[in-house]
Amino acid sequence: MDYRKYVAEKLNIEGVDMGEIASSVVVPPDKAMGDYALPCFKFAKIMRRSPVAIAEQLAASFTPDGVLESCEAVNGYLNFRINRLGLIKETLSKVLSEGEKYGSSERGKGKTVCIDYSSINVAKPFHIGHLSTTVIGGALYRLFKFAGYNAVGINHLGDYGTQFGKLIYAYKAWGDKKAVEEGGVKELTRLYVRYHKESEENKSMDDEARRYFKLIEEGDKECNELFNWFKEITLKEVEKIYEELDISFDSYAGESFYNDKMQPVIDELERKGLLKESEGAKIVDLSDYDMPPCLILRSDGASLYATRDLAAACYRKDTYDFDKCLYVVAYQQNLHFRQIYKVLELMGKDWAKDLVHVAYGMVSLLDENGNQVAMSTRNGTVVLLEDVLKKCHSKSLEVIESKNPDLEDKETIAKQVGTGAVIFAALSNSKIKDIAFSYDKILNFDGETGPYVQYTAARIKSVLRKGGIGGSYEGYEPNEDEYQLASAISTFGEVVNSAIDKLEPFYVTRFALEISSLFNKFYFDNKIIGEEEKTRNFRLDLCRATLVAISNALTLLGIKIPERM
Ligand code: ARG
Repeated sequence: MDYRKYVAEKLNIEGVDMGEIASSVVVPPDKAMGDYALPCFKFAKIMRRSPVAIAEQLAASFTPDGVLESCEAVNGYLNFRINRLGLIKETLSKVLSEGEKYGSSERGKGKTVCIDYSSINVAKPFHIGHLSTTVIGGALYRLFKFAGYNAVGINHLGDYGTQFGKLIYAYKAWGDKKAVEEGGVKELTRLYVRYHKESEENKSMDDEARRYFKLIEEGDKECNELFNWFKEITLKEVEKIYEELDISFDSYAGESFYNDKMQPVIDELERKGLLKESEGAKIVDLSDYDMPPCLILRSDGASLYATRDLAAACYRKDTYDFDKCLYVVAYQQNLHFRQIYKVLELMGKDWAKDLVHVAYGMVSLLDENGNQVAMSTRNGTVVLLEDVLKKCHSKSLEVIESKNPDLEDKETIAKQVGTGAVIFAALSNSKIKDIAFSYDKILNFDGETGPYVQYTAARIKSVLRKGGIGGSYEGYEPNEDEYQLASAISTFGEVVNSAIDKLEPFYVTRFALEISSLFNKFYFDNKIIGEEEKTRNFRLDLCRATLVAISNALTLLGIKIPERM
């Protein structure tokens, strides 16, 4: 129900556009004043009366109905009260009939959105720095699908660059097949770190590494077999984490996929007079736009990260004909994306305006004393996401052991809770904010956390198991707790829309928290099971609707709900 529109249609003020009335409707700061209000100051000129008189006149001609039960004039404002029962009935019947689909829409019908996210680097550890892009991107992917868009998830793998020549060198020099098979990316990282240490003393190693890299590019069989093996190992490992975080992709076309797709772009840049020589390299000059030049080809003829992104953008437009293409990448790459968007614009691609950099802040981990855990890829002191998840699993297991030791299948639940806590924490704030999290904070069952929401949902499940099916509640008069809860549930569709418009999954996180806290208030103030029939039936339906709202929200975020907790 769009109350703003409803108010506008009902008042039908002569000479004033309905859209304008609707957009003037506000939510009063104090709920006691009403659920919605219309300031009448704007209409004074057209209606040639004082705002106070206008409000009084409109209030006098108002007739209550099943949607709005009252309208009062106060100092030039009209205050409306929603018909409690009307809203509650409409909400419950909608939520319960739509179930898993509640909150979804068809607003994106016929539209395609490409989402480039996670985009990991081959043979590099999947560390805590990849958490945000993975879970923000994953949430956006599900949100867009939920709203009827054709969403295309793309993992733009970092699988190109001289580092692979170095890795081949290191593997040939000190590697062992079995050790790599067993140790996976950790072992590859160890080799890579060793390469860096030793090459500081021995500069000729870099020439060798470059030669290996060239061999990969030239299609040399052995080098490509090794390279593809490294890639396989990386993907196999990361698949496990993706599964746990409920992440999926439609394409794994990474940087090397564009090897043969850059030349046409370079030719086009040349043809359009955009390519300039600079110290032997080829660049696009962006000084008119206050940006450093975009490097297209190095002096040795090698392409760059930007060259591949230009080719990738063109390829995606050709292949998917997207309406929007999102890049969920840390804000450190702001300049990179501004540059490539500008270059595409200069090439005359009118769709360059549809490319959006979804930037996010840094994630770091705090130790027991609240100090930031230091991280450096070079030294191999990274905080692996896998380890963070594992630690959260074991810590939630401890909590469960102490709170509910008889729980069945504790391990599975501890996993769902630990992982849920990490995802929820990463999606709890506006994405651009830097976040530093500590295990205790994100796992606090009473805080603004994933476990708190999961616990609420599990509690509802338990009420429903005990409460049975229920039935009619005709004639029941809901109280304020019940109304506030139902009213919050009814906003879910708007929440989903705002999350999409603002590209902010945290609207959904916040919704889940709000519903949980309203539910808990309702639950502590009101009995359910022991109540007389009508009341019990109503409350059971309200519980069911609450569970649908929380489940749908958590599913969008990639978080599972334990049956019991
Ligand atoms: N692999 C890159 C990194 O870790 C991110 C790639 C983002 N996507 C893109 N199309 N540039 O920094």
